[in-house]
Amino acid sequence: MAEPEIEGTLFTGEQIKARVAELARRISHDYGESRLLLVGILKGAFVFLADLARELDIEVEFDFMALSSYGSMTKTSGVVRILKDLDTDITGRNVLIVEDLIDTGLTLSYLLRNLEARGPESVEICALLNKRVADKVEVLIKYEGFSIPDVFVVGYGMDYAERYRNLPYIAGMERRP
Ligand code: IMP
Ligand code: MG
Repeated sequence: MAEPEIEGTLFTGEQIKARVAELARRISHDYGESRLLLVGILKGAFVFLADLARELDIEVEFDFMALSSYGSMTKTSGVVRILKDLDTDITGRNVLIVEDLIDTGLTLSYLLRNLEARGPESVEICALLNKRVADKVEVLIKYEGFSIPDVFVVGYGMDYAERYRNLPYIAGMERRP
């Protein structure tokens, strides 16, 4: 079976850097002294989180979660499993979920409900990419990098079957594999 190929660049490293800096300015302004807890969603958000964090000029802490949706490699099924939970007790904390990409919104709507049940002061979402898909679960994304069409993307942390995460730009795949 032929492998799907990388098509064109969607966002260059420079475009991403500029947008990440803007998001970081807003986050720094909004959270100020509140000792924000950044929750990176593994694995896809690791590049975005690292760049975003270094643009923030406020004090932050880090934690990570790994989630898995049952189903095929490129389609989300809606059933979410926690593979790695937080180490941190988030009671009374200001939490910002940092995610690479929102597709159907199922993963994040599940995660939001799960974290809200733990009694934090606040939980918000920062996502680099938000796909315009038809059957979307509504989740409020306070900090959104870019809105993109419904194409499969790789690079800047995002993968196709664990490949291409280290590309310094974001590219589309030639077809939905
Ligand atoms: P959702 O639950 O449908 O919003 O799925 C979100 C997750 O599916 C993302 O965090 C990615 O891990 C994965 N995903 C969805 N679309 C893509 C894509 O185009 N490239 C890489 N991963 C994707
Ligand atoms: Mg992900």
